[in-house]
Amino acid sequence: SQVAQAEFIKSSVRTEDCPSDGLPEFALVGRSNVGKSSLLNSLVRRKKLALTSKKPGKTQCINHFRINDSWYLVDLPGYGYASAPQELRMDWENFTKDYFLNRSTLVSVFLLIDASIPAKKIDLEYASWLGQNQIPMTIIFTKCDKRKKKKNGGKRPEENVNDFQELIRGFFETVPPWIMTSSVTNQGRDEILLHMAQLRNY
Ligand code: GTP
Ligand code: MG
Repeated sequence: SQVAQAEFIKSSVRTEDCPSDGLPEFALVGRSNVGKSSLLNSLVRRKKLALTSKKPGKTQCINHFRINDSWYLVDLPGYGYASAPQELRMDWENFTKDYFLNRSTLVSVFLLIDASIPAKKIDLEYASWLGQNQIPMTIIFTKCDKRKKKKNGGKRPEENVNDFQELIRGFFETVPPWIMTSSVTNQGRDEILLHMAQLRNY
């Protein structure tokens, strides 16, 4: 399940413009700054394949990266807070939701949730939307390397993860699989790649 080869293929802002070779794909979605692009880089063991930033709102398109010439990782713009104009963010929201609903080669959405802080309302809303639309998903908890801070509610990542699971329970018929990760320590990398390999073989 390891990545031998990874290359950027294209950026799109409409589902129709995404690659048409029919290869299966997995999309990374989550709040701006949650660590989508960093996770992608961790998975492919490259520091700068996907561009990352301290400033939220870095990724602005549907970005396709082809892995081992046989499947795609897709980096998406974040939702919620971003240093970008409201109008642009509405655009992102519209084309990413269209992508989730209409991209036939999408095997599973990977919803990234920051485990270093308590659940945000917008994350719950997003999880609920995915559940309502029965979009297959996996929950990825990010930043599990970060220690608890008073200003973040003083909870450990494990506690935030449990709280989040509790809050979303009602949104799904079956509880989505979940994985704890860190792009700093690469925690969870092999688990995600194995999980993606299993999903591709269904
Ligand atoms: P947008 O493209 O703006 O939506 O953000 P993104 O979700 O792609 O986040 P990105 O990967 O650019 O990371 C945002 C910031 O979080 C950067 O400063 C990263 O270094 C940091 N970061 C990402 N993942 C981790 C992690 O696992 N642990 C820690 N400590 N920091 C992380
Ligand atoms: Mg990004």
